[in-house]
Amino acid sequence: MHDLSTEDEQDPLATHQDADLEIELLMEALFRKYGYDFRGYSKAHIRRRVTQRLRTSGLNTVSQMQDKMLHSPTFAEALLNDFSIGVTEMFRDPPFYQQIRQKVIPLLKTWPHIKIWHAGCSTGEEVYSMAILLKEEGLYDRTQIYATDFNQHALNVAREGIYASNKIKKYSQNYSASGARATFGDYIHTQYDAAILSNSLQKNIVWAHHNLVTDSDFTEAHMVVCRNVLIYFSKELQNKVHQLFFNSLVNGGILCLGNKESLQFTDHASHYTHVDKKQRMYKKIYAE
Ligand SMILES: C[S@@+](CC[C@H](N)C(=O)[O-])C[C@H]1O[C@@H](n2cnc3c(N)ncnc32)[C@H](O)[C@@H]1O
Repeated sequence: MHDLSTEDEQDPLATHQDADLEIELLMEALFRKYGYDFRGYSKAHIRRRVTQRLRTSGLNTVSQMQDKMLHSPTFAEALLNDFSIGVTEMFRDPPFYQQIRQKVIPLLKTWPHIKIWHAGCSTGEEVYSMAILLKEEGLYDRTQIYATDFNQHALNVAREGIYASNKIKKYSQNYSASGARATFGDYIHTQYDAAILSNSLQKNIVWAHHNLVTDSDFTEAHMVVCRNVLIYFSKELQNKVHQLFFNSLVNGGILCLGNKESLQFTDHASHYTHVDKKQRMYKKIYAE
C-alpha cells in the first residue's frame, strides 16, 4: 500500500488540498507587490523552495506566507533569494572552459572588439573566470563584459570580488583542470580569511541589474553566457528568454548554456549550429 505518512513528512504541502492554487496566488502577489516575476518558473522548483521556507518559517500554509510577504519586504527579499538559487563557483565545469579555449576563442579572435553578456552571473565567479581566460588568451583588453543578475545582493558581492578563502582550494583545482596557463595564486591575494581577486580583472566588467523575465534585449553581443539559470524556468519562459538572446546576439555570435540545459526542443533550435554539443555551445546562424 502507498505510505502516505512518509510522503507527508517529505512534502508538507501534500496535505494541503489547494497548495498549487495558493502557490500561484503567492507568485501573483509577489509580482504585483514587488515586481519579482516567478510566475513562469518551473512549478517543481518553486514548490520545493516554498516547502523549504514553510519548514523554516514556522508558518502553516502558503496563504499565511503570502500575508507575511505582503506586509514584510524583508520576508519578500528572503523569498526572492529562495527562488533565485545563487550557487556558483570559479571555473565551474572545467571542460566547459577547455572548450571555450579550444573552440570559441578562435571565433572571438575574428572580431576587433568583443562584447560578452553573462546573464544570471550570481556572485560573479563565472565572470571573473572568463576574464582570467580572456587575459591568458590575449583578448581581455579588447573585450567588454556585461555581467547581469536580478539579485541585487548577489551583484554587490560580485562587484567586490572578495570570496571566502575556504573556497579557493576548489577554485584553484577547477582552474588547473580548465587548461590553465598560469597559477591561480597569480590572480588573488589573501587577507585574513578572504581571497581578493586582482583589480586588473575588474577593468572591463560592467555589473548591472537586469531581469531576464521582464527586461528587454541587452546589447549587440558576440557571446551570451547564461548557465544554470534557464533550468529553473518553464518551457514557455525559456522560449521567451531565448528570443531575448537571439535578438541580443550578432550574426555568428556564440550562445553558451549550462550542461543540463539545451536549445533542443526550443523555438530557436534551428537558428543555431553546434560549436560543442556536450558543452552546450551554439553559434547563431547568419541571417540574410
Ligand atoms: C545557479 S545561479 C548560476 C550562476 C552562474 N551562471 C553559474 O552557472 O555558476 C542562477 C542565477 O540566475 C539568477 N536569476 C534567476 N532568475 C533570473 C532572472 N529572471 N533574471 C536575471 N537573473 C536571474 C539568480 O539570481 C542566480 O544568481
